[in-house]
Amino acid sequence: MTKFPKDFLWGGATAAHQVEGGFDEGGKGLSVSDVYTFDSSLPKEKWTDQWHLMTHAQVAEAQNPDSKKYYPKRNGNDFYHHYKEDIALFAEMGFKCYRTSIAWTRIFPNGDEDLPNEAGLAFYDKMFDELLKYGIEPVVSLSHYEMPLHLATEYGGWPNRQLIDFYVKFATTVFKRYKNKVKYWMTFNEINCVKHHPYVSIGVIEENHPNIEQAKYQGAHHQFIASALATKACHQIIPDSKVGCMISYQLLIPYSCDPDDVQKTVESQRTSLFFSDVQARGYYPAYTKRMFEEKGVVLETEVGDEEILRQYPVDFISFSYYMSSAVSAHPENLENAEGNLITGGIKNPYLPSSEWGWQIDPKGLRIALNQLYDRYQKPLFIAENGLGAVDQIEKDGTIQDDYRIDYLKQHIEQIQEAIHDGVDLFGYTSWGCIDIVSASTSQMSKRYGYIYVDQDDEGHGTRNRRKKKSFDWYKNVIATNGEEL
Ligand code: BG6
Repeated sequence: MTKFPKDFLWGGATAAHQVEGGFDEGGKGLSVSDVYTFDSSLPKEKWTDQWHLMTHAQVAEAQNPDSKKYYPKRNGNDFYHHYKEDIALFAEMGFKCYRTSIAWTRIFPNGDEDLPNEAGLAFYDKMFDELLKYGIEPVVSLSHYEMPLHLATEYGGWPNRQLIDFYVKFATTVFKRYKNKVKYWMTFNEINCVKHHPYVSIGVIEENHPNIEQAKYQGAHHQFIASALATKACHQIIPDSKVGCMISYQLLIPYSCDPDDVQKTVESQRTSLFFSDVQARGYYPAYTKRMFEEKGVVLETEVGDEEILRQYPVDFISFSYYMSSAVSAHPENLENAEGNLITGGIKNPYLPSSEWGWQIDPKGLRIALNQLYDRYQKPLFIAENGLGAVDQIEKDGTIQDDYRIDYLKQHIEQIQEAIHDGVDLFGYTSWGCIDIVSASTSQMSKRYGYIYVDQDDEGHGTRNRRKKKSFDWYKNVIATNGEEL
């Protein structure tokens, strides 16, 4: 079996709004994620509703200081106060890299200030120093579902072209500040997910929106330009930097060999690949014209936009991979796949599902890696992969998360196959290396970590950290560079 490259970046990933907490400390402003609530009295199937369809009333209530609701993403797992302890644990596992995001609202609390917030900049200085102390390479997302709320409520989010300047200013500020500390950057987390949840992706509330498809793609266009300009600035400020795009890649498979299923699968897959096509190749793909016609989208662009996209494509492609989904042109009589990120997927009878209905398909990861590498011929980075599960603390205090080990082992085996296939992959960060608040359900009990955090869905608990069985397993995977799984 082909070995992992010698300098392969093994590590773990999180995002600021899911770990940090300290939402009202160090001058931080509210982000779009700080308004998500968790309410255990609601039926389970309602927990993800806000993720897809945030309402004006919910945002207004969250801005009211007297609101009695619980907002889990304001607390995260309290990494803001535990970062030294947590990074020491990552180092003990032998992490070569740690992927996280910089909360835009720590640096520019409202997003439109002239000057950055020094306390926010100082926090990330300390965090990066702590990582570098152990030789852990920071991999930083500039925007991971945490744009300033103010830019959503006062500017209407990314469909407003002014956001390009605000973002580039934020990006340039952090490039200059951390130029000697951070080499790997990602511009927008899961940029293609605007199609599922425009509120958290581009700051647009879908409710009563006159033309939501137009808003989504206009917002995406501005993010493409912002990403290209940030890439340009990053290369100027940090000459040896590498900038990546980041998409959610859910492999789609035709439910049957019916040519209609096959065609629908190609079209559906393109709705994700569209985003990496623009960012990696530097231009809108040929199929855009028809896609926009069918969606009724007419982009407003400016002279020079095409040139910007062409001149500053990304250096590498990163993606999250959790599951695959079957696609049918005639879904009426078929069983739907459940799961938070799946819209309209059909249940694949050959695959098991997680407790949240996400269909587990390790072999799909090998296919995904090959598809992306064949398409772009640029280095790849797996930015997220993992199993959300409920963990049990045994009487002796241990957490026997063999199910997580199995999931990760099977996926890493397929990564190895893909490397053998010739794919150029330079890193793997499993998602939620320490337990964090779920993005889609805002639960704490949907756990991904090697490290357990004593905190429940309502925020109760000591927040003490505890190693799970998978901690030592992953430590050995890294120590043997993937030879022992
Ligand atoms: C990805 C996001 O979509 O999936 C993460 O980039 C998220 O922020 C992860 O946490 C897992 O999803 P969830 O809903 O289980 O937290």
